[in-house]
Amino acid sequence: MITLGIDVGGSGVKGAPVDLSTGELTSPTLLFPTPRPATPEAVTEAVVKIVDGFADSHGDAPVGVTLPGVIRAGVMRTAANLDESFVGCDIHALVEDRVGRPVTVLNDADAAGIGEERYGAARGVGGTVLVVTLGTGIGTALLVDGVLVPNIEFGHMEIDGHDAETRAAASVRDREQLGWVQYAERLQRFLTEIEKLFNPDLIVVGGGVSANADHFLPLLRLDAPIVPATLHNKAGIVGAAAFAVTAAPVVSS
Ligand code: BGC
Repeated sequence: MITLGIDVGGSGVKGAPVDLSTGELTSPTLLFPTPRPATPEAVTEAVVKIVDGFADSHGDAPVGVTLPGVIRAGVMRTAANLDESFVGCDIHALVEDRVGRPVTVLNDADAAGIGEERYGAARGVGGTVLVVTLGTGIGTALLVDGVLVPNIEFGHMEIDGHDAETRAAASVRDREQLGWVQYAERLQRFLTEIEKLFNPDLIVVGGGVSANADHFLPLLRLDAPIVPATLHNKAGIVGAAAFAVTAAPVVSS
């Protein structure tokens, strides 16, 4: 079965059809910059452009959409890297109305977690798995024996008086022009704190920067094994596509 996965991030909105039997994208990704301001309407338009872009080949496919914030029953509860008008917005209803076919919505890191669990680095791994996505912000997904605990927001833990993602997101490395050693120190501080509290059995590190995992993962000292995401920055698309058919129907309020 082929479904569409669309990943809304702080800098880009990207999507592609995914073959759920393999987790492979069946066409090149369509990508648009995240509109600024990133209002629900503007972001929805970008999502619609991607759906329309695949209309000829996949006009009936269910659609899964990720967003970078807490989403409960289709409603955004936080939006750290989007316009604040997202908070309280029934994004499920808005997108489904504009797309005109079944849509599911979920947190972007949760989607990455589902993608890695089903097709990637966490496949077949039991126990507690933490997937961390390093991008504009820090996203986290927690899976226990393959079951997702949704909306875990470790990226907003307060560490040393700072919101963790303002110190250790990949965007911070770019902005502050940190070398790999300095960046690894930031991550070490973040992951040590998480490990102290949650003791995962495996940590998977994703986001675009995971393509450079060789530069910083070997510098980290943790109890749990830590490995790069194998789906890299496609994990969100793949996880969203998988969620599109496995999720319980979202009841919009
Ligand atoms: C948001 C999370 C999101 C992460 C990555 C954070 O700022 O609060 O929900 O998963 O960024 O986009």
